[in-house]
Amino acid sequence: MTMRAKPGEVRVPQAEFTLRVNNTEYSLRVDARVTLLDALRDRLGLTGTKKGCDQGTCGACTVHVEGKRVLSCLMLAAQCDGREVTTIEGVGTEENLHPVQEAFLKHDGFQCGYCTPGQIMSALGLLSEGRAGTPEEIREYMSGNICRCGAYQNIVAAIREAAGDHDATL
Ligand code: FES
Ligand code: FES
Repeated sequence: MTMRAKPGEVRVPQAEFTLRVNNTEYSLRVDARVTLLDALRDRLGLTGTKKGCDQGTCGACTVHVEGKRVLSCLMLAAQCDGREVTTIEGVGTEENLHPVQEAFLKHDGFQCGYCTPGQIMSALGLLSEGRAGTPEEIREYMSGNICRCGAYQNIVAAIREAAGDHDATL
């Protein structure tokens, strides 16, 4: 039997699904309108993924879904039911950094670091897409990732170095 909402009552639609993040499965029951970004940060405590604009213009929230880079603020968490999500927490470890992380460190590819998780997830996407052939190409395909500190030259240098490293993709 379908229960009708009483006059003035607001029913929040719930969604139940499984998120697979960095090779770990999580069962979630959340408001169906929750974004992947908010589910990662607020429900799973994976705060490496950053919220900048929350409207698809800064790239700080970039993660991978099924190996492709996406803006997690523009995707509903429920859309990722059963799909593989990778966040910055799934890339390298403190003791064993990923080659792209090494390259960002070596080339000072950050200042405050707020945009850096998104830059690195986007750089990994760009490398696996084979779009890091020239500095111009890197700039074009990283153009969705904004850096308020203006570390762009160093970010490009880091990605160029990583592009020469065949282990640099995820
Ligand atoms: Fe998603 Fe800015 S927080 S693009
Ligand atoms: Fe500060 Fe990019 S390093 S916003």
